[in-house]
Formats: sequence, C-alpha cells, structure tokens
Amino acid sequence: MTPPLPASPLVDMHDRAVRYVRLSVTDRCDLRCTYCMPRDQTFAPRADLLSLEELDRLASLFIAHGVDHIRITGGEPLVRSDTLPLMRRLARHLDGGGLSELLLTTNGTRLARHADALADLGLRRVNVSLDSLRPERFAAITRLGRLETVLDGIAAASQAGLAVKINMVVDGRDPVDAVFETVEWAHGQGHDISLIEKMPMASGSEDCGYVSLTDVRHKLAARWTLVPLDVRTAGPSHYVAVKETGGRIGFITPMSDNFCASCNRIRITATGRLYPCLGHDLYFDFRHIMRGGGDDAALAELTRKALRQKPAQHDFVAAHDAGRAAVTRAMAVTGG
Ligand code: 5AD
Ligand code: SF4
Repeated sequence: MTPPLPASPLVDMHDRAVRYVRLSVTDRCDLRCTYCMPRDQTFAPRADLLSLEELDRLASLFIAHGVDHIRITGGEPLVRSDTLPLMRRLARHLDGGGLSELLLTTNGTRLARHADALADLGLRRVNVSLDSLRPERFAAITRLGRLETVLDGIAAASQAGLAVKINMVVDGRDPVDAVFETVEWAHGQGHDISLIEKMPMASGSEDCGYVSLTDVRHKLAARWTLVPLDVRTAGPSHYVAVKETGGRIGFITPMSDNFCASCNRIRITATGRLYPCLGHDLYFDFRHIMRGGGDDAALAELTRKALRQKPAQHDFVAAHDAGRAAVTRAMAVTGG
C-alpha cells in the first residue's frame, strides 16, 4: 500500500513548500498573443481535457495536502463553459475548508459577462492581462483582440466589487512611455499593476522584444518616487508603491532577477499533466492514472515523484541568450 502524502505542506528536494497550484482549465483562447502562441496554434483534442469532476478531484486532493491557493488559468479560462461551475464547486473549500483564496487569471474579453457571477461565487480579485492601452498596439499584440472589450471587462469586474490587478508583459520595442501610460491609467482606476518580463516559451521566442525590468524600474524611478514594499502575494512580484500616483507596481523578473529559490507552485494543465516547473518540459501525467481507475494514493505517489524532481530553477536566460525557446510548449498550455 502506498503511504499517504506527507502531512502538508508538500516540500520538494530544495526545501520549497508547494502551497500554490495553477490549474489550467483549457489551452484554448480567443486571442493569439504573439509571445504566447502562434496564429495557427493546434489545441489539445477535447477528449483529452479533464472533465469538471476530474479537475475538482485533483484540486481537492491538493487542498487536502496543504495547497491553499488555487489559480484558475488557461489559455483563457472563461472560454470554457463549465469554468464557473468548477469555480463554484472549488469555492466550497474557502471559509475554513483549507483554501485561503481562489484566484483567476483572464484576458478580460468575457469578464463583462461573468463578473457578477464570479463575485457571487466568492472570488475576491482577478488578474487581467493588458499589455497596451494603445488600440492598434493592443490589436497587434493579441492578433484578435479589441482593447475596448477588455476595458469594459475590467470596468465590470470593478463594478462587481472585484479587486483587479493588471498584468502587463513589457515589450522593449515599445517606448518606455507606454509603460508610464499604462501604470498611470491602472493607478487612476485604483488597480495594482504587475510588469512582467518576457519568457522564451515556444512560439514566443521568435517574437523577441525582451527588456530587463530592472532597467525599466530605473527609468520609472527617475520620474516617480518608488517605495519598496514588504508585501508578498502568492506570486513572485516585488512590489513598490508609487508616491505620486498612490498605486502599486509589481515587478516579475524571471530573467533579470531569478526568484526560483522561493518558488511555491506547480502547474496542472487542462489535460491533466503536472508541470513542476514552467521552464522545463518535464511533466507527470495524472490523466492516465485517473482514467485507468487509479485511486488517490496513486495520484499522491505521482505528486511525490514530481516534487522529488522539481527542478531547482528554469533556464530562460540561457535559452534567450542562445536565441531559442526554453521549452517546446506554448505558454497557453500551462497558463503562465
Ligand atoms: N512571457 C511572459 N509572460 C507571458 N504571458 C504569456 N506568455 C508570456 C511570455 N512568453 C503572460 C500573459 C498573462 C499571463 C497568463 O502570462 O500576458 O498575463
Ligand atoms: Fe490568450 Fe493569454 Fe495567451 Fe494572450 S497570453 S493568447 S490572452 S492565453
């Protein structure tokens, strides 16, 4: 008989406790951001996607073993019709049930439609990707997106009482004014914003534009007073407060300031693969175990194996320097 998982938290070989699962519910998306996937991306066969029950089973198992943050990701999670029912189910673990927070990352295109229902089910905040406030630039980056739709979605989320955090992947080919303008807008609306360095995922690597946010931060500091904050969210952002705007900026610097030593997360794809690291192709397949009638002990055994092999860190910098992708999959497979 397989021994049960060690009592929470799940700890890897580098003494990192995993308390955060990013659960992708679909690899599909209604946009095609250039750094994320090719225009003609092929998606997983629908039969391979985990059902709502299978996703719930996995998430609940992780919660039982000490995971207290679950982020629903995609692709774009709100293109899947049973994402809200799934979240409604997972919300039973909030309020003393082991889950501190249920989170969502979305591109915002369907937020206007779903914001009220999301707030009703217990969501408190939402991360919305918004890389440019310039309509043509937004359309070029997302290939299929309309800025206005996303801005409406963000407004609806605020209206519904959700705290919105903007995620902006910074492109060094844009003027730094584009960053100032988005930060100013976000803070004016009362939203935090995280600036993200581009990572060389497959299909994103040919679209370069990488710029070090450590450099961008210096430029921001030349205009604004940035006060480093001690706050840590579930993610790797380093936050500063901007005195002039009264808002906060998070810097997510996988390339220029590696944060792997404090990694607290694993990723599960919509097809039931556990990826212990975003920057490696290594994965462990839950789906075959579940569909072969495997019990929770078998899933726990695979989790232990994945934790034993969780890489110490990603190799994004070496990949970027060599002009290649660090992994063979697109970002949309694991949802960032
Ligand atoms: N590098 C950095 N961030 C990325 N995202 C998608 N692809 C990349 C990449 N190659 C971001 C999205 C979104 C989050 C889910 O991941 O913009 O904010
Ligand atoms: Fe879709 Fe997000 Fe990828 Fe853009 S970055 S294509 S919105 S999954």
